[in-house]
Amino acid sequence: MSYSAYYVEESDGEFKALVKDLELIKPQDGFVQIQVSHSSLNYKDALSATGVKGVTREYPFVPGIDAAGVVTQSASSLFNEGDQVIVTGYDLGMNTPGGFGEFITVPSEWVVLKPSALSALEAMSIGTAGLTAAASVLKIVASNPNKDLPIVVTGATGGVGSIAVMLLSKLGFEVCAITGKDTSHDFLTAIGATSIILRKDYLEVPLKPMARPAFAGAIDTVGGTILSKLLPQISSHGVVTSCGNVAGIEINTTVFPFILRGISLCGIDSAEAPIDFKKTLWDKFANDWKLDLTSLIREVSKEQLNEEIQIILKGGQKGRVVLSHQEK
Ligand SMILES: NC(=O)c1ccc[n+]([C@@H]2O[C@H](COP(=O)([O-])OP(=O)(O)OC[C@H]3O[C@@H](n4cnc5c(N)ncnc54)[C@H](OP(=O)(O)O)[C@@H]3O)[C@@H](O)[C@H]2O)c1
Repeated sequence: MSYSAYYVEESDGEFKALVKDLELIKPQDGFVQIQVSHSSLNYKDALSATGVKGVTREYPFVPGIDAAGVVTQSASSLFNEGDQVIVTGYDLGMNTPGGFGEFITVPSEWVVLKPSALSALEAMSIGTAGLTAAASVLKIVASNPNKDLPIVVTGATGGVGSIAVMLLSKLGFEVCAITGKDTSHDFLTAIGATSIILRKDYLEVPLKPMARPAFAGAIDTVGGTILSKLLPQISSHGVVTSCGNVAGIEINTTVFPFILRGISLCGIDSAEAPIDFKKTLWDKFANDWKLDLTSLIREVSKEQLNEEIQIILKGGQKGRVVLSHQEK
C-alpha cells in the first residue's frame, strides 16, 4: 500500500520538495502506525524542508514535527486500532518521517490520546508551537507576577508568540506584544495584546546593564538582541522564558538582573519534554485553557507548503498554518 507525502530530496547540495507516493511500512514491536489527518507548520519544519543543518541528517525525507490522526496498526499494548492520537516532537519530522506524510510510524511512547474536547484540526492548530507557548506560560504563572506591569511576548504574531498572547490574555494578564509587522495591530489586539511595540523601535532602545522595570515577565521566542534588552527591564523576581533563536543565538547580559532583581531565565524545550508533561498541557488546552484558534489558523494542502515555508523562513507568518491531508 502506498501513501502520499511532501517529500524533500537532495541533489548536489540543493533541496527540492515534491508531493510523492511512498510505500507504507508495517510497524515493528512497540510502534504504532497512524493515518495522519492534520499536521502543522513550525519553524523547525521549514529548516528541515530546506536542508538547514542541525535538524535532519539524511535526505530524502518527509518533514512534519506534529501529527494528529487515527491508529491504523498497533504493535504496542498502549494503543489500539481506531484510537485518535497526537504526536509532537521527539524525533518526529527530524529524522523519523513526519506529519507532512499521510501516514507515520512511531514508537508508542511518543503518542498521546487526543482529548475528546479537541478535534484533530484544533489539536494541530495548537501543535508544537502551542505546547511551547503553554510551557512558557506555566513558568510565568508559577512566578506569580506583579499584575501592575504587563507580560511581554516577542515574535508576537508567530506561532508560539500568538498562542502565548492568547493564553496570557485569557488568564487575565496585560500583554505587551513586540512585533516586526507594522500592519499587525488589529490582529494582535484581537488576540489579546493590550500594548504593542514595533521591533524596530524596540531595537533602538540602548542596551543597558539595568533599566527601569517595564515588564513583570517575558516570553521570548526570538533570542539575540531583543532577549538581551529584555533582561534588565524585568521587575523584581520576574521570569523570562527563552524558546527560540530566529533573531540570533547569542545574548549579551550582565549578572545584575539576576543578582539585583532576582529574575530567572528559564529555557523551554517542548520537543523532548516528558510525555506526561505533554499530556498535562493537552489536558489544559482541552479544559481550562481552551482557546478558539479559528482566527489564528490557515488550512493548507501539501501542494501549498512550499509557499508557506518560504514565508515562515522570512519571518512573515502570522498565527498558525495547519496542513490538512483530507480532500476538500
Ligand atoms: N524550544 C522549543 O521547544 C521550541 C518549540 C517551538 C518553536 N521553537 C522556536 O521558537 C521560535 C518561534 O517559532 P514559531 O514556530 O513561533 O515560528 P514563527 O511562526 O515563524 O514565528 C516567529 C516570529 O518571530 C518574529 N521574527 C521573525 N524573524 C525575526 C527576526 N529576525 N528578529 C526578531 N523577530 C523575528 C516574527 O514575528 P513578529 O513579526 O511578530 O515579530 C515571526 O512571526 C523558533 O526559533 C523556533 O525554532 C522552539
